[in-house]
Amino acid sequence: MNRGLNIFFTASEAVPFVKTGGLADVAGVLPRALAALGHNVIVVMPRYYAIDRSELEHIPGPLGVPMGPMGELWAGVYSRSLPDSSVPVYFIDYEAFYGRHGLYDDSDGFSYSDNDSRFIFLSKAAMELCRKLDFAPDIIHANDWHTAAQPVLLKTRYADDPLFKDASSLLTIHNLQHQGYFYKGAMDIMEVGWEHFNPLELESFDGVNILKGGIAHADAVTTVSQRYAHEIQTPEFGFGLDEHIRAHSAKLYGILNGVDYDEWNPSVDPYIARCYDIDDMSGKRVCKEDLQKRFGLPVNEEIPVIGFVGRFAEQKGIGLIAGTIEGLLHLGAQIVMLGTGEKWAEGFFSDIAGKYPDRFACHIGYSEELAHVIEAGSDLFLMPSLFEPCGLNQIYSLRYGTLPIVRATGGLDDTIHNYDPATKEGNGFKFEWATNDALYHTVKWAVDTWRFDKEAIALMQKSAMQARYSWEASASAYEKIYYFLKYKKAAETYR
Ligand code: ADP
Ligand code: GLC
Repeated sequence: MNRGLNIFFTASEAVPFVKTGGLADVAGVLPRALAALGHNVIVVMPRYYAIDRSELEHIPGPLGVPMGPMGELWAGVYSRSLPDSSVPVYFIDYEAFYGRHGLYDDSDGFSYSDNDSRFIFLSKAAMELCRKLDFAPDIIHANDWHTAAQPVLLKTRYADDPLFKDASSLLTIHNLQHQGYFYKGAMDIMEVGWEHFNPLELESFDGVNILKGGIAHADAVTTVSQRYAHEIQTPEFGFGLDEHIRAHSAKLYGILNGVDYDEWNPSVDPYIARCYDIDDMSGKRVCKEDLQKRFGLPVNEEIPVIGFVGRFAEQKGIGLIAGTIEGLLHLGAQIVMLGTGEKWAEGFFSDIAGKYPDRFACHIGYSEELAHVIEAGSDLFLMPSLFEPCGLNQIYSLRYGTLPIVRATGGLDDTIHNYDPATKEGNGFKFEWATNDALYHTVKWAVDTWRFDKEAIALMQKSAMQARYSWEASASAYEKIYYFLKYKKAAETYR
C-alpha cells in the first residue's frame, strides 16, 4: 500500500493568491512539499475578489452545492497550479459569498454576518468538487474552522458515498481562538442531522461550533507545534475547548511548520541592501544601515535595533509592548515595528513614533519588502506573543541571524532555545510570564548581552543561522500520520 496518496487539501487562504496570516504560507507551500514526496495533492480555496479570474483556467460546467434552506447554489470552478509545481489549486467561485474585499471581515474589522454560510459552503463545495473531478481522496486535510465542517460531512452526509470509502480526515488547528461559532440555524445549512447537535459534537452554549464538530469527527487532529498541542488541553490556552480536546487527545499530534527558505534566505534575498550569510556577515551591517535610513532613525552601528513584524492583535503581545514601550525606549535601543490590525494599537504606536522620532519608528501597513528589510537589518527580533501556535517570524529571524526575544509559548518555545550565559549556548532570549516586568527585563538582558558580550552574540547567531525548519521535514511528518490513518482504516475492514 506504500504508494502515492490522494490528498485533498482545503484552506481559506493560500500564498501567492491571498494571505492574512501564516495559514496562507502553510497552504501555499505544504501541498508542494507533499507532492514532492510523490503524492497526488489538490488544493481547494475560495475565489475571492482579489484573485483575478483572467489569470485562472475556467473548469467547464457549474458545481451544484446543496445548502439546506438556501436550496442548491451553483458555483463556478477555476484552477491554477501552485508556483513551480504541478499541484492544482481549485478556486470555488461564488460572487455573493466571496466577491468582497475582505476574506473574513469588513473594512471596519467586523466579521461578515454570513461567515457560517460562506464557509460551510466552502466545505460542501469541496466535497462536491471531488465528485465532479472524480477524485477519490485517501486523505482530506482540512485547516482551521473554515473547513472544519468537512470531517463532519465525511462522517455523516457523505459516509455512504463510494467515492469517499477510502477517505480519512485530518484537521489542522492553526489557531484555536477562532472556532466558527454561530447561531444553531447553521445546522440546517450543514444538513448533517440534528442528532449531531449535542455537546460532544457540534453544540456549544446552544450555538454551532464548527471547529468543535471538526475535532470530534476528524480521524486525526494536528496543531502546528508540539508545545501548542499540549497547551490547548489546558484552560489557559483552550479557549473553552480544552476539555473537548482532552477527550480527543489520543488522536492529537503537533507538527511544526516549515519555512520557505527560497524566500527567506539572506544569501539570495532580493529585497535587502546587501546579501550575507554565516561565513561573511558584513552585509548585515549594510542592511542595518539601510533599515535605520529607511525608517528615519539615526544611523549608528553601535545602537542595537529591535524589530517587530506581525498582526497588531492581542495574541501577538502588543498589549505587553504598549505597556512597556517607554521603558524599553530608555534602554538605548532603537525599535522598528511593521504591522496592522487593532485600531488602538495603530494609533498608539504612531503616537509613540511622533514622541520618540530618534529611537522608535513604525510602518502601519502590510509590506513583504519591509518585512525582509526588518528581518535582515535588526539585531534582535521581538515576539512576546500571549499564545503562538507556531509562529513564522521567529524562524525567519533565526535564518537572518536576528536573535529572537520571545515568550516561552507554543512554537516560540519549541524553536527558540534560551541563552545560557554559562555555556554561551542558545539562539534567543525567552521569558515565561506574560507581564510587563518579564518583557522589560528580558529585553534589557538581550540588549546588555548585545552591547557587552559580542562573542556570545556571534555564537548565538551562528547557531541560529544553522538551524533549519524545512517543509520537507514537516511534510514527512504529515505523511506518517496520513499512512497511519490509511492503514488503520484498511485494518478496520477486518473487524
Ligand atoms: P499569524 O499567522 O498568527 O499572523 P505567523 O507568524 O504564522 O503569524 O505568520 C505571519 C505571517 O504574516 C508571516 O509570514 C509574516 O511575515 C507576515 N506578516 C504579518 N504582518 C505583516 C505585515 N504587516 N507586513 C508583512 N508581512 C506581515
Ligand atoms: C496561525 C498562528 C501562527 C501559525 C500560523 C500557521 O495563524 O497564529 O502561530 O504560525 O497559523 O500555522
